Amino acid sequence: MTAAPAPDPGSTLRERAASALLGARERTRLLTGCVDERELTAQHSPLMSPLVWDLGHIGNQEEQWLLRAVAGQEPLRPDIDSVYDAFEHPRAERPSLPLLAPREARGYVADVRGRVLDVLDSTLFDDGGPLVESGFAFGMIAQHEQQHDETMLITHQLRRGPAALTAPEPPPAAPDAALLPVEVLVEGGPFMMGTSVEPWALDNERPAHPRFVPSFFIDTLPVSNGAYLRFIEDGGYRDPRWWRPAGWEQVRRHELAAPLFWRREGRGWVRRRFGVVEEVPPAEPVLHVSWYEADAYAAWAGRRLPTEAEWEKAARHDPASGRSLRYPWGDADPTPEHANLGQRHLRPAPVGAYARGASPLGIRQLIGDVWEWTASDFLPYPGFRAFPYREYSEVFFGDRHKVLRGGSFAVDPVACRGTFRNWDLPVRRQIFSGFRTARDAEPA
Ligand code: AVJ
Ligand code: FE
Repeated sequence: MTAAPAPDPGSTLRERAASALLGARERTRLLTGCVDERELTAQHSPLMSPLVWDLGHIGNQEEQWLLRAVAGQEPLRPDIDSVYDAFEHPRAERPSLPLLAPREARGYVADVRGRVLDVLDSTLFDDGGPLVESGFAFGMIAQHEQQHDETMLITHQLRRGPAALTAPEPPPAAPDAALLPVEVLVEGGPFMMGTSVEPWALDNERPAHPRFVPSFFIDTLPVSNGAYLRFIEDGGYRDPRWWRPAGWEQVRRHELAAPLFWRREGRGWVRRRFGVVEEVPPAEPVLHVSWYEADAYAAWAGRRLPTEAEWEKAARHDPASGRSLRYPWGDADPTPEHANLGQRHLRPAPVGAYARGASPLGIRQLIGDVWEWTASDFLPYPGFRAFPYREYSEVFFGDRHKVLRGGSFAVDPVACRGTFRNWDLPVRRQIFSGFRTARDAEPA
């Protein structure tokens, strides 16, 4: 499985933009090239678009932002804007739209990209206003394509039939996992949340602002399948005490008894992962759980989910310097030594892997592996300004969506930072979601 080539740290923002766009396109080609035309146009789940819709939408967003908004060019294909507008058409109805056929869609995205590379060559980043400052629009579009690549990978996971994707090597082991403390104390006090300096941070990550976070304990590691199994075996899915009313409702209506893609077999459990059925690996972080399942597990364990501010403080605050780091391990861009990103392994690494990716307090796997549900609703930071369009973040703010942090094995480094915010409905479980737990620290 290919990951985007890691940009060389000395490279300019223009080179980074070119390499981020190229890396995203290689991944898109892989995800749309490994199945036949019928599978590209089929809807594999009512929760998802046909893969060929994502492909056309990737090209259309790139055309709208980089050719029209940045370069002021005339629309190439104004006739298809509406078909690829995510707000006009919910996912369930996208298969019945007049979508570009796979060959046409490939031609369209290639045509757009060819023109974009000329625009990238000729655009001054420091003299064209906020959209192009530091190459923002190019970085935003590379991130957008990578986000849809993760969406397409979810579609691949939902798709029935034989495997279309394989990973060349397994994720690294976790040799010292058993020696780690179960939880870590994060001392109360203020820290800087969000960012005002990260050039390609999206609007909802801005601006940097101080937050006071009281002392709390947080798990050193994500919750594993083995731990989650104890919740199942203890009757967790049959006991309303652990569940929010809407979560209990979902458990009963859909007769939930385990994470999505799990099936009981004999006395154990198997799961389907990208077309292969395998035993559930006890040491891997639990994957494909809803916010309600994560929250119920935490209640059963006598704990709770971390708030979003607690999660970010655990991931970024360096007690020695008082600074907020870009990543748990420091300011350097992620490498395969730090975190499981970029679809390299097509699965999370066992809990306790990536010692080099630990935070200053020794908390591991905050970045990569599984998206981590937090207790928090998706809300704007003080001083938030929608940029460059309200429909990226602003229309989703409120109490309907819960925040997820840290990125999954399916997230590319360009779309992953200590400040990056994801959100989804609390019932969702097809996403690459897991969690860790926390608890209040007793006042001294
Ligand atoms: C940030 C992952 C919730 O996929 O709905 C893609 C990203 N926004 N195109 C989504 C996004 C517009 C978004 N998430
Ligand atoms: Fe999109």
